Amino acid sequence: MGRRFIRSFGAQAIITAASLLLAAGAAHAQDAALIAKGEYVARAANCVACHSVPDGKAFAGGLKMATPLGNIYTTNITPDPEAGIGGYTLEDFDAAVRLGVAKDGHRLYPAMPYPSYVKMSGEDIKALYEYFMKAVPAAKQANLASEIPSPLNMRWPLAIWNVLFVDMDQYEPKPNQSAEWNRGAYLVQGPGHCGACHTPRGIFWQEKALDEGDSDYISGAMLDHWLAVNLTQDGNSGLGRWSHGDIVRSLKTGQTPFGTAFGTMVDVVNNSTQFLSDADVAAMATYLKSLPGAMEKNATPWAYSSATTDLIRKHDFTAPGAKVFFQQCRACHVDDGKGYGDYLPPLAGNPAALAQDASSLINIVLNGSLRLVVGGTPDGYRMPAFRSLLNDQQVAEVVTFIRNGWGNKAPAVTPAQVAEIRDATDFATDKVVVLKMK
Ligand code: HEC
Ligand code: HEC
Ligand code: HEC
Repeated sequence: MGRRFIRSFGAQAIITAASLLLAAGAAHAQDAALIAKGEYVARAANCVACHSVPDGKAFAGGLKMATPLGNIYTTNITPDPEAGIGGYTLEDFDAAVRLGVAKDGHRLYPAMPYPSYVKMSGEDIKALYEYFMKAVPAAKQANLASEIPSPLNMRWPLAIWNVLFVDMDQYEPKPNQSAEWNRGAYLVQGPGHCGACHTPRGIFWQEKALDEGDSDYISGAMLDHWLAVNLTQDGNSGLGRWSHGDIVRSLKTGQTPFGTAFGTMVDVVNNSTQFLSDADVAAMATYLKSLPGAMEKNATPWAYSSATTDLIRKHDFTAPGAKVFFQQCRACHVDDGKGYGDYLPPLAGNPAALAQDASSLINIVLNGSLRLVVGGTPDGYRMPAFRSLLNDQQVAEVVTFIRNGWGNKAPAVTPAQVAEIRDATDFATDKVVVLKMK
């Protein structure tokens, strides 16, 4: 009897210990799964692109951002208790990320894209919090003070700004749309904050629309001297001619037969969209393909014309800019304006070339672009910087030439426009800039 008791007790103990171990293991696995989910959300929201600097510690802040009021610096969001957000509870973190209110109650400038992040789900915020608290290494790096002059640096008016311009609501799925469409809308409007660059801003620097209910939404906008192109189905300067597959490829690799990602879009592909699952990127493309384009007024749909090619092949350089194109650009972009495969983008029919605003073209010709790095491999071909080779007149002429060659039709560019962008910008670095998340 006694022996049996001992034996069964022993067995019981082993079973209990085993189930405790199993439970602990399951909790650990649950924890790990939540952290992995948080890391994925951090990719989708591209927190790293703003909260890190090249060669700096991951998420330690310090990136200078220009706002209409003056420059500000991103903050340390590592879990260091003093320098970072180690003292934030989940509720504090949620208030900062979705509502733009820091733990001490001060309002954040909307350079932090909380007007988009407010749409994120509670589940995604929870996962993000676990990731930041448990998987991001703490860094002791003090925050830098903003350079906004007094009294403009008062933060309380931001509370009013929020009431006027931010929809304080999570994303609500549209019952008449598919689950895939809703997932795409959620990613584009919420974590992806595509509108922070692609939606035009009003006089109070507010995005003019936060979803597809308004035709201004992601219809193209200027930020930091780069024109983030129209992402609606406009046939010329938007994505109307792109297939669903073209958009997927662009977000996964930065390269399509229509153009190569450049300017600030390189940060997005390098640090965010290439890491998203095929299903998520496809959902984003499905959502984007559903947005009707507001074709620019009086614009005729772009159609290829070989007249420019014929002139160049005959060495007829009477058109201003033709000679510069022949000598400096033709080797890569080809005399037919079609580039080579995915690697050297076409200028014929390129959405950036057809947009009314030429700032992006001027900027890339002066300064070149950052390196795309997809799957860890830097791209092979670069757009060179012509800043020291070509003067303002030559840049204006060659940009005007490509905006009106091969069927393209877009307004001419003046040397004064080039001079302005030359003064405000600098060479794009040729370094590989892929930000660390650990
Ligand atoms: C487009 C740039 C940008 C992106 C993307 C961005 N942030 Fe920020 N964030 C900022 C700026 C700028 C500030 C500081 C604003 C200020 O000082 O008013 C900030 C502030 C914060 C703060 C407040 C920190 C403090 O010191 O109190 C938190 C928390 C934060 N961000 C978390 C995140 C997380 C998490 C993500 C990704 C989901 C993210 N941010 C993405 C620009 C960005
Ligand atoms: C050595 C090859 C090379 C030469 C020469 C060159 N480009 Fe480029 N260009 C590129 C590459 C590659 C890109 C794609 C962006 C990147 O990856 O840097 C590009 C991008 C562009 C773009 C943006 C289009 C897009 O979809 O990315 C424009 C506009 C452009 N080049 C104009 C010019 C002009 C004008 C000249 C001559 C003054 C020129 N390029 C000379 C290689 C070249
Ligand atoms: C930091 C600013 C910024 C953000 C955020 C941003 N974009 Fe862009 N995007 C740009 C700029 C600038 C261009 C124009 C240069 C170019 O064509 O690559 C662009 C171009 C594009 C293009 C055309 C690429 C090509 O090869 O011509 C697509 C597609 C695109 N963006 C989709 C998105 C989506 C989807 C999101 C949200 C997940 C997003 N962008 C977020 C700045 C941004």
